[in-house]
Amino acid sequence: MSEEKSRAGVPGMTQALWESPFMRACRRESVPHTPVWLMRQAGRYMREYREVRARHTFLEMCKRPEVASEVTVYAAKRLKVDAAIIFADILLIIEPMGLELEFAKGEGPVIHNPVRAGRDVSRLREVEDVGALDYVYEAIRMTRRELPGNVPLIGFCGAPFTLASYIIEGGGSKNYVNTKRLMYTDAGAWHALMSLIARALGRYLNAQVGAGAQAVQLFDSWVGALGPDEYREFVLPHTRSVIQSVTRGVPVVHFGTGTASLLELMKEAGGDVIGLDWRVRLDEAWSRLGDVAVMGNFDPALLFTNPETVREHARRVLEQAANRPGHVFNLGHGIMPETPVENVVALVEAVHELSARA
Ligand code: CP3
Repeated sequence: MSEEKSRAGVPGMTQALWESPFMRACRRESVPHTPVWLMRQAGRYMREYREVRARHTFLEMCKRPEVASEVTVYAAKRLKVDAAIIFADILLIIEPMGLELEFAKGEGPVIHNPVRAGRDVSRLREVEDVGALDYVYEAIRMTRRELPGNVPLIGFCGAPFTLASYIIEGGGSKNYVNTKRLMYTDAGAWHALMSLIARALGRYLNAQVGAGAQAVQLFDSWVGALGPDEYREFVLPHTRSVIQSVTRGVPVVHFGTGTASLLELMKEAGGDVIGLDWRVRLDEAWSRLGDVAVMGNFDPALLFTNPETVREHARRVLEQAANRPGHVFNLGHGIMPETPVENVVALVEAVHELSARA
C-alpha cells in the first residue's frame, strides 16, 4: 500500500472507520453501496436545527462545542448518511487574523474591517497558534464520541480564494470587483494575503485531524469567478500548499462551484476527491479528471420536487458513475434552507438502494 493510503499515523483511525464506504470511496476502493452525505446537512431546513438556532446566534452555535456536536450528530443519524461534517463555518479562522466577523440577520456574513488595499494585508495577524479555534476541536472530539463507530467525521476549511474574497469584499459578493482589483493590481499583496491564509489553513486542518476528523474538505465555493489563467497564477499554488500540508493518510476533498473550466487545474492543485457542482455531467467531468475520486453533482434544487423525481435523478447520477470505484454521492452545493426534509431522506434512501452492489 502506498504511503499516502496508509492509516498509520492518522490519530484515532479505527478499522471500522478506515473500512467505511466513505473512506474506501475516497481511496477509490470497492464499496458495498455508494456512500452519500450532503453539504449543509445540519442546517435550517431541519426543524430540530431551527429549534436549537432559536436559542443561540449562529456564531454561538459554532462556539459551543456541545451545541455544534448535537446538531452534527442529529443530522447524521436522522438522514442515515455515510459521513458527518462538523458543524462550524469557513469564516471562523479569520477572527484570529484580526478580522471582525458578524453574521447579520438576513444578510449572511459581514466583516467589519475588510482588507481593501495592499497595506491592509500587513495589519493581519499570522495565525501561528490555531488554539483560538479550540472550540472546533472540542466539538470534533465530542462528536467523534457520539457518532456511530463506522461513520467518519469530516473536518473542513474554506479554500484560500474563497476566504480571501470574504476578507476583501467584507461579505458575500456578486462580481468580486474588490477582490479582483487587488489581485490584478497588487500581486505582491495578493500573494502575501493568500499565503498567510494558506499557512493558517494547514495548521487548522491538522488540528482538526488531531482532534478526530477522518477526512477534510476545502470549500472553494466562489472560485468559479475566475478563468483558468487567473486560477493557475493566483490561486493554485496556495491551494496546493494547504492540501500538501494535510497529514498523510487523511483524504482531502477539494470542492468548488462554477468550476467546469477549472477542473483539471483543481486536480493539479490536489485532493483525493474532486467536488463537482451540477453544471457539468459527472461522466464527462470524471473522464477529464482521470485518476481521482469525485463527489457531488446532484442539483440541490431537485430537493424541492418530490421523492419520485429525486429518486429518478439520483439514478441518473449513479448511472453516470457506473459503479466505478471512487464516487461519493453528494449535492453540487449545500442544501437550501426551505428544502423539505422528506425529500432529503428520500435521496439518501434512494442512493443506498439503487447503488447496492450485487
Ligand atoms: O455542511 C454542514 O452541514 C456543515 C456546516 C457548514 C456551515 N457552513 C454551516 C452554516 C459548512 C461546511 C459551512 C461552510 C461555508 N460557510 C461555506 C462553504 C459552503 C458553501 O455553501 O459554499 C460558505 C461560503 C460559508 C459562509 C457562510 N456561512 C455564509 C455565506 C452563510 C450565510 C448563508 C445563509 O444562507 O444565510 C453562512 C451561515 C451558515 N453556515 C449557516 C449554516 C448552517 C446558516 C446560519 C443560520 O443558522 O442562520
